[in-house]
Amino acid sequence: MTAEIQSAYLAPEGLNEPLLKEIEGVIAVQDRLILSSQPFINAYWAQNIWKNPKIIPIDSINDAAKKLESNQRNWCLYSFKLHRRAKLIEEKLNSRKPKLLTFPASLSGDPLGSWCLLDENTILASADCTSPFPNGKPSFIEDKNGPPNRAYLKLYEALTLAEKTPKTREFCIDIGGSPGGWAWVIQKCGAEVLSIDRSPLDEKISKLKGVSFKKRDAFSLLPEEFEKEGRSVDWFFSDVICYPEKLYDWLLVWINSGICKNFICTIKLKSESRQDIIKKFSAIPNSKVVHLFHNKNELTYFNLDHTQEK
Ligand SMILES: C[S@@+](CC[C@H](N)C(=O)[O-])C[C@H]1O[C@@H](n2cnc3c(N)ncnc32)[C@H](O)[C@@H]1O
Repeated sequence: MTAEIQSAYLAPEGLNEPLLKEIEGVIAVQDRLILSSQPFINAYWAQNIWKNPKIIPIDSINDAAKKLESNQRNWCLYSFKLHRRAKLIEEKLNSRKPKLLTFPASLSGDPLGSWCLLDENTILASADCTSPFPNGKPSFIEDKNGPPNRAYLKLYEALTLAEKTPKTREFCIDIGGSPGGWAWVIQKCGAEVLSIDRSPLDEKISKLKGVSFKKRDAFSLLPEEFEKEGRSVDWFFSDVICYPEKLYDWLLVWINSGICKNFICTIKLKSESRQDIIKKFSAIPNSKVVHLFHNKNELTYFNLDHTQEK
């Protein structure tokens, strides 16, 4: 079995199923780690993808640590068996300790590999993984007082992966914004935010400088309204609960209008694989669809302008 492994995928907690529907050549499933005999694909539902993993035979704990470190410095263990032995190897490694992230956080340039013990004398390790976070999990310093809910962590993660944030004086729209976790993040970045929802914002959020609110149906909001006022939109955020098809059609109107260059939207999927519609989103030029650690039965759509940076 080991000789055949060409890629491995770590599923988000409780979401093996949609990921399994995406992957071909599945050889084994070890808790949340799916091993495949096929070269890696950019699976949407993966929390982390181990590209080109290698089988490393080991004869001791020291030997394991030495062999991992001869590949690269930083490693993250995914432990599904032989936990004590795996822990002892982990302790021998000089990997950088994962630290809590303070938002806005920049990504460390150091690659982070992933490894596991397949049996007592065999490691599976990939020096090249898709997530910069240990097992795909970013750990942010949380704010228990400012935001009205935990949705802010989803936007923390999305903007950290985007490697850009709304800037002072930029204008953002925040669709399906109630009670205001995302608006709180955007305001904290220094940008102006207009939240749209059928339900009001949390009172504390609605009083923040630079935050405004309109109670209305999200899908009635069209780019013409801003074009008429000669106003451009720097960021389009949407966390609205709706069928993905409805979001797709409406998003295309916004993208095609050219009025806005940065889009981050949640695609709500109810844990179904829905490859058909997900592929449509990811086929929009300059787009990326991923499952964030803070996403549940949903994916996140990114379409970002990186031309004006640096
Ligand atoms: C997941 S919640 C958003 C949480 C928000 N991003 C935050 O950070 O607090 C989804 C929101 O979509 C809103 N919503 C659903 N359908 C809508 C529609 N057609 N028009 C406006 N808002 C809608 C709901 O009222 C709800 O507040």
